[in-house]
Amino acid sequence: MPGILTIVLAAVIGLVSVYFLQGLLISSKKEEEVQPENDEDDFIQRLVQQKRRIVVFYGSQTGTAEGFAIHIAREAKERYGVSSLVLDFENEEMEKLDQLPDDCVAVFVMATYGEGEPTDNAVQFMDFLQSSDVAFSNGDNLSNVNYVALGLGNKTYELYNETIKQLDSRLRELGANRVGEVGMGDDDTNIDEDYLAWKDPMFEALAAHMGLEEGATGEISDYAVTELEEYNPKAVFEGEHHPRALNSVKGGHDAKNPFAALVTEARELFVDGTADRSCVHMEFDISDSGVTYQHGDHVAVWPVNAEPQVERILAVLGLSSKRHQPISIKSLDPAIAKVPFPQPTTYEAIFRYYLDVSGLASRQSLAAFVHHAPNEAAHEKLQQLSKDKDLFMSTVAAQGLRIGEVLQMVAGDSMLSQDVASSTPWQVSFDRVISSLPRLAPRYYSISSSPKLFPNKIDITTVALRFQNEQGSDLYGLASNFVSALKMKQNNEAPQLGDPRYGTPIYHLDGPRRKYVDQEKYRVPISVRRSTFRLPTSTKVPIIMVGPGTGVAPFRSFVQDRVGTAIKTKEKLGPDALRDWADITLYYGCRRNNEDFLYSDEWPDYQKQLDDKLKLRVSFSREVFKEDGSKKYVQDLIWEDRAGIADAMLNKNGYFYICGEGKGMAQDVEAVLERILVESKGIDAQDGHAELKKLKERGRLLLDVWS
Ligand SMILES: Cc1cc2nc3c(=O)[nH]c(=O)nc-3n(C[C@H](O)[C@H](O)[C@H](O)COP(=O)(O)OP(=O)(O)OC[C@H]3O[C@@H](n4cnc5c(N)ncnc54)[C@H](O)[C@@H]3O)c2cc1C
Ligand SMILES: NC(=O)c1ccc[n+]([C@@H]2O[C@H](COP(=O)([O-])OP(=O)(O)OC[C@H]3O[C@@H](n4cnc5c(N)ncnc54)[C@H](OP(=O)(O)O)[C@@H]3O)[C@@H](O)[C@H]2O)c1
Ligand SMILES: Cc1cc2nc3c(=O)[nH]c(=O)nc-3n(C[C@H](O)[C@H](O)[C@H](O)COP(=O)(O)O)c2cc1C
Repeated sequence: MPGILTIVLAAVIGLVSVYFLQGLLISSKKEEEVQPENDEDDFIQRLVQQKRRIVVFYGSQTGTAEGFAIHIAREAKERYGVSSLVLDFENEEMEKLDQLPDDCVAVFVMATYGEGEPTDNAVQFMDFLQSSDVAFSNGDNLSNVNYVALGLGNKTYELYNETIKQLDSRLRELGANRVGEVGMGDDDTNIDEDYLAWKDPMFEALAAHMGLEEGATGEISDYAVTELEEYNPKAVFEGEHHPRALNSVKGGHDAKNPFAALVTEARELFVDGTADRSCVHMEFDISDSGVTYQHGDHVAVWPVNAEPQVERILAVLGLSSKRHQPISIKSLDPAIAKVPFPQPTTYEAIFRYYLDVSGLASRQSLAAFVHHAPNEAAHEKLQQLSKDKDLFMSTVAAQGLRIGEVLQMVAGDSMLSQDVASSTPWQVSFDRVISSLPRLAPRYYSISSSPKLFPNKIDITTVALRFQNEQGSDLYGLASNFVSALKMKQNNEAPQLGDPRYGTPIYHLDGPRRKYVDQEKYRVPISVRRSTFRLPTSTKVPIIMVGPGTGVAPFRSFVQDRVGTAIKTKEKLGPDALRDWADITLYYGCRRNNEDFLYSDEWPDYQKQLDDKLKLRVSFSREVFKEDGSKKYVQDLIWEDRAGIADAMLNKNGYFYICGEGKGMAQDVEAVLERILVESKGIDAQDGHAELKKLKERGRLLLDVWS
């Protein structure tokens, strides 16, 4: 007979299970609602059955390409009344592309990653398309396919917009017909402006090709938003990124369901009182999470918008008093736009966790608000800003204004944080807000620890990004200052005037339902992204690592990885075991020895554990100068060491790694390596360039850079 305690326990377990299941069912029902209809049919059938004439495919990692894909579909509908399907390659039978009806058009919106590679969801399609024996449903002829091409990339990377270039050239080779010019957006400057400059001529070409006439439908709604009167409070997403997080279900973590990792350590790396900047070392506990990583991987960190921007947008939209109101959001055409975040949710959660209200406002977003201005003057001003690029650049861009600030400015309101409560409220239907603002994207950081020494933690090394607008006011990078704010909160630090951390924006760090506070420590949602930035397996080939500033992050991981291997090798083969290991050389650069020399206290210990196989070459750019008085950088040290580097790369199968700032440093370092190859092989510059390319193709020259 079961005892009373057993019965009570069983009842409790039963109730808890019902609760979990209920939560999951509620959530999954919502998810079902945003699935395209007729999902079992292939995209050709869906196009025909649903009388749509445009199919937009996107290759996207962090949502930018997906966002532009939706914009194109929406604008085609608004301008010409023509409907589209917006599709992820991953879910489609792309071999049926050759069955595209000839009165339809395929649009490809493709981002480029890594060394000119497609995004994860487009890899399979690109491999299929590029294969020499490509077989669509009726062979290898795409002459009936008409297409539009938009690429997203970043000029910092050598292979700029490589994916769209390859796609365009291959489609044409297979007989397809391009409509309009290939668009290319540069994330390093202003990707929205690049898109705006490309899309009007593209739509004109598209209209001429498809026989479309302008002036069809006008503004369309993507979503139906309902303020809920009856709801289950436990099923409302207050900032959780996934139904599993809402229901506190453990495991199953990935980029869609980030793990809320406990911050076990957070400390300043620059020497207090000397540097005018801040760099944070942060450690995330991943024990029992199922999250794993390897040296060279990146970790995505999900920030929140800073509180002043959250409060501002709530006030400007007249939603401050309704911030906790649960709302449901349904897609009116799931074939075009899915609901971009989990729902039901609240206005506050949307502006804190899900939509980006921190970045520079775009002319596209401004255009979406024009018809909802609170008065004629605001309408007029906003319309001008959204239409006139020069005016936009000299006012909005020059000051680095976010969406909330622009709406305040055109309404004649004060933009000071303390005045937000008196902002003129805009009557914008909320579906327009969701359609026009970008999603809040995670930021990537090179992991600076190795699982060989620390399988249960992930370290990052983050410099807090602070820059000035044209008026000289400080602007703060969102995620890097979120990390910095979190460190200060956890350590009870209160920086004083004059400290570089003074003025860091305030962030709500407690998380939804205070889930991110854990006995005075904090949690941060993270996920790991695999990279190809890896050490060679052999310890007998020389390794050259170049990582000034925060570029050193992955090399701390590399060095720890070799230390882990060294410890094991010595255990097995004895103290002399590293005798035949090749050198591991780190070129590091910072401003001054006693100011910003990252991890300076750790390197000697690693050198000892690696029996001095680790060589450190450091440039102090504002302390040690060249003979002509100019700054001495890592590439100058590399040039000084050219004989050894040539020997390592040409005779010993060496590996050369560059990490950090991509435009100046990485390109200068590549140039010096090319010079070394040219000089030591006695070849000309063109062949030197080809040698460098060969090294990249063979995976012996690897870059991990950002702008
Ligand atoms: C693969 C990879 C690895 C990386 N590893 C590291 C690392 O190890 N350490 C590290 O510190 N960083 C690293 N980064 C950079 C990191 O991902 C972030 O880009 C960085 O921390 C800045 O993010 P943020 O959110 O603070 O800045 P954001 O808010 O994203 O701002 C970035 C830029 O956007 C523009 N911007 C933003 N707001 C405005 C505005 N209001 N007006 C005008 N312009 C604006 C500015 O140009 C600014 O410089 C890495 C990046 C990549 C891609
Ligand atoms: N994605 C982002 O938005 C992001 C994230 C992190 C950093 N950053 C930016 O990236 C840059 C590097 O930042 P950081 O903090 O890692 O490093 P940093 O401290 O600015 O620079 C590290 C060292 O590299 C030197 N350096 C500058 N230009 C160089 C070049 N062309 N070749 C070789 N060395 C060079 C610097 O010298 P001097 O300064 O004395 O010239 C310094 O000694 C900064 O502009 C920073 O704002 C951007
Ligand atoms: C790690 C990383 C690697 C990248 N590599 C390239 C590249 O090789 N070439 C390029 O043109 N752009 C490159 N980019 C820029 C992206 O293509 C660009 O930011 C794009 O807008 C991302 O789109 P998404 O948000 O849809 O993924 C890279 C960006 C990141 C973060």
